[in-house]
Amino acid sequence: MNRFLLPTEVISGPGCLVELKRFVKAGDKVALITDGPLVKLGLADIVVKVLEGIGATSEIFDEVPANPHAEVVNKCRAFVEGMGASVVVCLGGGSPMDVAKVVAMLATNEGEWEDYQWNMKQPTNPPLTYIAIPTTAGTGSEVTKTSVIIDRNTKKGTGGDFFFAKAALLDPELMVSLPPALTATTGVDALTHAIEAYVGKNHQAFTDALALEAIAILAEYLPRAFANGTDLVAREKVAIAAAMAGLAMDQSGLGVVHAMSGPLSSYYDIPHGLSNAVGLPYGMAYNLIAVPERYARIAEALGLDVSNLSFREAAEASVLMVEELLDDLQIPTDLCDYFIKYGTDEADILKFAEESCKMFLMRNNPRNPQVKDIEEIFEAMLK
Ligand SMILES: NC(=O)c1ccc[n+]([C@@H]2O[C@H](COP(=O)([O-])OP(=O)(O)OC[C@H]3O[C@@H](n4cnc5c(N)ncnc54)[C@H](O)[C@@H]3O)[C@@H](O)[C@H]2O)c1
Ligand SMILES: [Fe+2]
Repeated sequence: MNRFLLPTEVISGPGCLVELKRFVKAGDKVALITDGPLVKLGLADIVVKVLEGIGATSEIFDEVPANPHAEVVNKCRAFVEGMGASVVVCLGGGSPMDVAKVVAMLATNEGEWEDYQWNMKQPTNPPLTYIAIPTTAGTGSEVTKTSVIIDRNTKKGTGGDFFFAKAALLDPELMVSLPPALTATTGVDALTHAIEAYVGKNHQAFTDALALEAIAILAEYLPRAFANGTDLVAREKVAIAAAMAGLAMDQSGLGVVHAMSGPLSSYYDIPHGLSNAVGLPYGMAYNLIAVPERYARIAEALGLDVSNLSFREAAEASVLMVEELLDDLQIPTDLCDYFIKYGTDEADILKFAEESCKMFLMRNNPRNPQVKDIEEIFEAMLK
């Protein structure tokens, strides 16, 4: 059985932030959840001014770190409940968005986050209205029903329809300040979502369509957004592709690259986008024999004329094309800096490989992973 659901209204375009007026009303008390750098950049102020124009009051919670932990969820919940918020607005990348959607649900429901994250507790009340304003174009969290929060040394996704945002405002003007390196790694995170969703065991027609189109858009516009961060057309295209890829992966699943990125982010605090971006060609090369015809279509979406190639040849070309794209985006080919910093040894690599293989995400991977294979990939990435 397949299911596809998109209850979030997605609005895009330069200046579309003003559409907040459709979801927030005069007199609302808005909890604006974001992170410190975005406040310093003046982006939170822009949102506050729009809210003031509507006649709503707002208070800012800006303590969400990259790769958020359960502690910050609990702190943010106390903030939202303490101010008596009627609406949650999130300005930020995947990290603040993942905290915001959880807190919007917790604010109207009993029980601790730990019970929802680990004991399958379900909410009984609808969440506070939650509006997502992404400032990175990568995770797709603005349209997903998933939140990824670290606890017990595990990067754990929790999902449910109650996590969908009421609306996602994709305003490229709020992405202009994203530096080239983050534009690259977050954009390749989106590409990884699309590729893993497309080749995964649980792919379906709706997610295939979104994934292939996202791959084509990212191949064309991500290098443009990287080369010229003020190119609003490219920024908007990449933001739309990231949302499409987010929907695809949320509703069909991910695979080996994200499963490997789990322990890397939990133990080494490697940014999510970077660990996926480095891992992507390794994961593609590993999976290729399981579904060469799917990788051949990926090559086509990336812009290759595959008419005279066998599936296998085109599939191999897809890996080379992604490597070329990563090279253009100046993404490193390994994570050996982290290997040196943390003094990684063989026991660590074995632990990472075992944990990756046990991750729920691996169930969607087209090739059944073997610990020794994943160890080899980690070795290649870390040494
Ligand atoms: N919920 C989901 O469906 C989903 C999917 C994939 C990943 N994730 C999670 O999302 C998180 C990663 O999110 P992310 O990659 O968007 O990064 P992020 O939210 O952690 O932000 C990374 C950095 O970019 C900065 N930044 C963000 N927007 C900026 C802008 N416009 N200008 C300048 N700086 C800006 C932030 O301040 C931060 O320092 C991870 O925890 C990951 O597990 C969630
Ligand atoms: Fe991701």
